[in-house]
Amino acid sequence: MCGIIAYAGEKDGREIVLKGLKKLDYRGYDSWGIAGISEEKIWLHKTTGTVNTDLVGGPSNITIGHTRWATTGRVNKANAHPQLSNDNKIALVHNGIIDNYLKIKDNLTRKGYEFSSETDTETIPNLIQSHMEGKKEGFIEAFRETLKELQGSYAIAAINNNTLAFARQDSPLVIGVGEKEIYIASDTSPFLDKTNKVIFLDEGDWGYYKDGELAIFDSKDNKKEIKAEEIKWQQEDEHTKKQDFPHYMLKEIYEQPNTILKSAEQPNLEEAKQAIKESSEIFLTGSGTSYNACLAASSFFSKQGKRATPILASEHQDIEHFFDNTKTMIIVSQSGETADLIEVVDKAKAKDVRIIGIINVPGSTLWRKSDIVLGMNAGQEIGVASTKAYTATLIIFSKLTGKQTNEQELSNYLTQKIKPWHSQVKELIKKINKDLFIIGRGEAVSYAKETALKVKEVSYIRAEGMAGGELKHGTLALIEENTPVIAITTPKTRQDLVNNALEIRSRGGYIIGIDKEKQECYDYFIPCKYPILSVIPGQLLAYELSISKGYNPDKPRNLAKSVTVK
Ligand code: AGP
Repeated sequence: MCGIIAYAGEKDGREIVLKGLKKLDYRGYDSWGIAGISEEKIWLHKTTGTVNTDLVGGPSNITIGHTRWATTGRVNKANAHPQLSNDNKIALVHNGIIDNYLKIKDNLTRKGYEFSSETDTETIPNLIQSHMEGKKEGFIEAFRETLKELQGSYAIAAINNNTLAFARQDSPLVIGVGEKEIYIASDTSPFLDKTNKVIFLDEGDWGYYKDGELAIFDSKDNKKEIKAEEIKWQQEDEHTKKQDFPHYMLKEIYEQPNTILKSAEQPNLEEAKQAIKESSEIFLTGSGTSYNACLAASSFFSKQGKRATPILASEHQDIEHFFDNTKTMIIVSQSGETADLIEVVDKAKAKDVRIIGIINVPGSTLWRKSDIVLGMNAGQEIGVASTKAYTATLIIFSKLTGKQTNEQELSNYLTQKIKPWHSQVKELIKKINKDLFIIGRGEAVSYAKETALKVKEVSYIRAEGMAGGELKHGTLALIEENTPVIAITTPKTRQDLVNNALEIRSRGGYIIGIDKEKQECYDYFIPCKYPILSVIPGQLLAYELSISKGYNPDKPRNLAKSVTVK
């Protein structure tokens, strides 16, 4: 789940690509690199860490850049992209995983090729070179032949002489069309301030830009008509700028009084409700935070008498055979690019399952694959730890299930409470160092799991969210003197959860209650009138734990904002 940006045109592409990489580094920040062609020679600059935009190399009309989330090969300079061919005439960046790269590497090694990285990617420019060798046909033909030999997922941009070539297979890639110039990127964010004319490449598409001509072919090498869509959405500054906040995560947490209101604006709601009505049962699926939202939704639907089964996107193999009798599936994705989810959707659509997509990024792959879209309207979410997208999704699910939710009331309440909650969680930091448990019942199991995920993601503290009733069946063994446990209640589950808290307290646990009413058993009480908002103190706690340890909550280690590999 790397970020790719390339430019070809009459301008010097270096600044465009470097600034573009800055906008893409939420997709991976292990290392970055840029390459261009000056005086007919390829120059390349790459290093570990996050992008800095100081100009490097020489002026170049075709320039490629990459920000990496390591999949194949450790985090180091050699494994950073771009990767070069042995003759240094081809530079290439790649997002995805080439499954058969070892076989290709073997064949090339036998032909005398040498490899300076551990990456799967380095095999591609060398395979192109091997196809060019001894042949008259040039780079473009060799690029086409190379694609035929690759197995796996790839979004690729490659340069040779005055040609920029690109291809996508199971990895996102879009084209921005400007005046006598094009931008190739993993998503629209790097060029949206320059052009809103966008070509969304389909699976298997490839092409090139050479001497001002853009050509696109489908997976069967049929030339495609160039059709750019004019996209209406703009990245509002309010979302792309940190304003006075030290981190995007904190800014996005504080945006929720507003995003909760926006998420309720759903022009396609009735159509989605009708689709659900026509289905005896439905599946809900997503990954990470989006899956946690599906968990809460399953509880909302069951209260409505509808069986809605939450399924982890990466575990869909167990439900595929139900697709024949499934009319409707609801998918949840902030980025709209999660590979596990794209695979489920493709399989479900092959069985005519109707897809209702609750998605945040307009124009993303899952946005375009959905039959009915309910946009989260949360604006760009840059912090890797998802926050406002989760609460937006809960509001949309409560609308879909007729759950009594007055978003204006929630927004007003949250506006009052967010600062006092923020001060409260700062008092708890000293209580939480190695382990943290979060318990809930009913819909609050989701809030507990989501709170745990936030704490793990940004503070690297081992946190576990679970159903309160399950604790005594094993995990209670981990409770010792002062072990912090957050208990999140709902009106219907309060008594049972308080009993669980008492079981913990009798083992010396320290109970932090997030509840409408203070209970005797709470060692610390965080008042929250609305259970649907009860994850927000947890988001703030995760943030404060992260910075108390000197970490950057926006770019947690080993993670990336959009998981485009399976
Ligand atoms: C959540 O904070 C994480 N970034 C991650 O678990 C995320 O929710 C998951 O990768 C799903 O992403 P999506 O909503 O963009 O599909």
